[in-house]
Amino acid sequence: MELKQKKILLIIGGGISSYKALDLIRLLKKNQATIKTILTPNGKKFVTELSISSISEEKVYSDLFSSNDKSKMNHIFLARWCDVILYLPATANTIARLADGKADDLALTTILASTKQTILVPAMNTKMWLNKFTQNNFRRLLENGFLNIGPVEGSLACGEKGEGRMSNPEDIVEYLKNYFLYKNMAKKLKLKALVTAGPTREYIDPVRFISNESSGKQGYEIASSLANMGVETTLISGPTNLHKPYDVKLVQVTSGKEMLIETQKHLPVDIAVCSAAVSDYVPISYSKKKMKKKQNENLNFKKNEDILEFLSKNNFQRPKLVVGFSAETEKLIEHSIQKKDNKNCDWIVGNDISNKKIGFNSDFNSVSIINHKNEIENIEKNSKKYIANIISKRIIDHFAKKNIHGKSIN
Ligand SMILES: Cc1cc2nc3c(=O)[nH]c(=O)nc-3n(C[C@H](O)[C@H](O)[C@H](O)COP(=O)(O)O)c2cc1C
Repeated sequence: MELKQKKILLIIGGGISSYKALDLIRLLKKNQATIKTILTPNGKKFVTELSISSISEEKVYSDLFSSNDKSKMNHIFLARWCDVILYLPATANTIARLADGKADDLALTTILASTKQTILVPAMNTKMWLNKFTQNNFRRLLENGFLNIGPVEGSLACGEKGEGRMSNPEDIVEYLKNYFLYKNMAKKLKLKALVTAGPTREYIDPVRFISNESSGKQGYEIASSLANMGVETTLISGPTNLHKPYDVKLVQVTSGKEMLIETQKHLPVDIAVCSAAVSDYVPISYSKKKMKKKQNENLNFKKNEDILEFLSKNNFQRPKLVVGFSAETEKLIEHSIQKKDNKNCDWIVGNDISNKKIGFNSDFNSVSIINHKNEIENIEKNSKKYIANIISKRIIDHFAKKNIHGKSIN
């Protein structure tokens, strides 16, 4: 019973899906969670205090300037009381006000006054959701540690179809159960992780370099997901256009050599996830001056640093779990297992980069996680965030199950 006695502060905003909060309260109570609710002034236009208090069997808070509760300031009391804050539906308006740090009602004042995790459950029309202001505001919130459940694709109350539908109450409860389960496990295990991500650039002269198509998105999502679960995470990244994930230590590098040096500096760790696409080759010589067109028609290369192999074969500070990535255009499983065995890493995550709709640069991926026993878990096309979450859960499960903290898995 992951939710038993967990204190959930449910904030109900003003949108067409507000009524689903009633069903959610019922489910949370069935799971023995303790709930208090805030109903925003606009939320009152969609659901009544009476129905919420009848189902939750608790008083509903809504007024920031209430003089009824003489002994306490509600925003401080609620901010301290809860284990987690769940905002549902998180409307476009709320997302904008939160991103601006506003505190003009009880809900937002409580969030600002709290150090507890806030989880947003957005719901709105597709165009509103995809509007660049909403997207920018939402991104700012995620960069500052807010988590989200959904929105998902589907039919919307306005009659249109698309992304923007609120996750259903069952999925929200499932998310919360997982959230508390993994937070608990990671906290007990006190794990440290190092994630490499992005491409590397191997310069030929001051303006030209060898690189590849890697966007770094999958690695950034893995770092973010591990950190959210409570793992102390360092992300060593080649050049990307991505923002630093919340609660992650970001180290930016350019070349494979720099990535290796930073990796060495950050050992020991329990977990290493090598998702960076380190260039396989580097030019043998570097010209300090820009090369002229005719100067060098033939370039010579040597093999680059192999960070995955270095970590996997490192006898002194080998992470307890080394996870490699293999991007393949054919024979995905066979080639991935070969790479795992050759490099001596524990698990390998294979992805088929021949499909342009997934993999490099896309927000979606489809992967096969192959563990040290060559057991394979295929994950169908889904967002890189979702895939990162599954990989992170498998990692934590592995440490929790074997309780191998302090021992090597081999
Ligand atoms: C019938 C109706 C349905 C609405 N549904 C939504 C919605 O699903 N999502 C949303 O972001 N805004 C929706 N709005 C607009 C919000 O109610 C409005 O922006 C309000 O200020 C949000 O209040 P809050 O920020 O306290 O949640 C709707 C408005 C009306 C009149």
